Amino acid sequence: MSNSTEKTIKSSIRIGWESPSNIALIKYWGKYGQQLPKNPSVSFTLHTAATRTFVTWSPDEKFDQPEVTLLFEGSQKESFRLRMANFIESVTEKYFPSLRKGHIQIETSNSFPHSSGIASSASAMSAIALCLCDIENFISGNTTSNDIFYRKASYIARLGSGSACRSVYPLMAVWGVDPSVYESSEEWAVGIESEIHPVFHTFHDDILIISPKEKSVSSTAGHQLMENNPYASARYTQASQRLSQLLTALRDGDLDTFGKITEDEALTLHALMMCSDPSYILMEEGSLSVINKIRKFRKDTGISIWFTLDAGPNVHVLYPEASESSVTPFILNELKPHCHEGKIIRDRVGTGPVKLC
Ligand code: PMV
Repeated sequence: MSNSTEKTIKSSIRIGWESPSNIALIKYWGKYGQQLPKNPSVSFTLHTAATRTFVTWSPDEKFDQPEVTLLFEGSQKESFRLRMANFIESVTEKYFPSLRKGHIQIETSNSFPHSSGIASSASAMSAIALCLCDIENFISGNTTSNDIFYRKASYIARLGSGSACRSVYPLMAVWGVDPSVYESSEEWAVGIESEIHPVFHTFHDDILIISPKEKSVSSTAGHQLMENNPYASARYTQASQRLSQLLTALRDGDLDTFGKITEDEALTLHALMMCSDPSYILMEEGSLSVINKIRKFRKDTGISIWFTLDAGPNVHVLYPEASESSVTPFILNELKPHCHEGKIIRDRVGTGPVKLC
């Protein structure tokens, strides 16, 4: 940040961003150092599943480190406040020194229900990172949100939750190095919207809530278990190879290759969990029933429809806009009965974060 243009701010600044969740097609699973990925990944940015975060920064010389208060959906939530306070403490020390002398009030809420089993860390951490970068921008007199702004937001979001770094871009983002992706890096994600074939610009992702329960093994623990996984090094090589094949399919609009790699990746992620020590299973009966039905429906009808999985039992049903009218009755009649209380979040690819104020 340039000190020459820095304004002396005396009153509070309030900034708000809405940032979406994302679903990885090539999965980040295994990390080292400070949230650096063992393999590159790529994701769709979602539209409906998002976090809205408002940050009010009130300068106060009496603080040496930021004092953080937080309201989650209007109520205090101490565990979340602590996580955010630790994150803000560490990133302001190194990357936003001008924000340390002050009070930071966070108001945050999710567009998706509490107990949906949807991971909120990607949207939450990208939203707070965007707010912090924007306050810094304001103080330093910048008015534009340019590529450098989003790259820094992606870098900061990564420190909060690895996969969050991919949420700051529209449509799709790559995190980690791929030789065909300009300026791709392990330290931040890059947006690849302009390279992607039009058929993927209107893709659907219906998220089937198979179980709303908290995962028995967290992502943090899952990443750690990769350290002693006997298949780890083969897996990291495979992920890089699959990414480059998938990127070609995404550029060419090759749906069949896209679908095959995407499903193989989802099953690989869960296979890695099953052969960790200790082994664990996050899929449930409903997840398997739904997967088998999707594969049978595709085989019987030739309709474009695939699935992917996050680190949990819920199933993301992926299909192009052109399949919507034939896929909808199948989802409602055949898949919905496997969902917890019939819950489905009918999402689609999105246009990225939005500044609220
Ligand atoms: O960002 P984390 O630490 O919650 O890890 C996310 C891991 C997966 O969601 C399973 C895969 C991914 O790339 O998003």
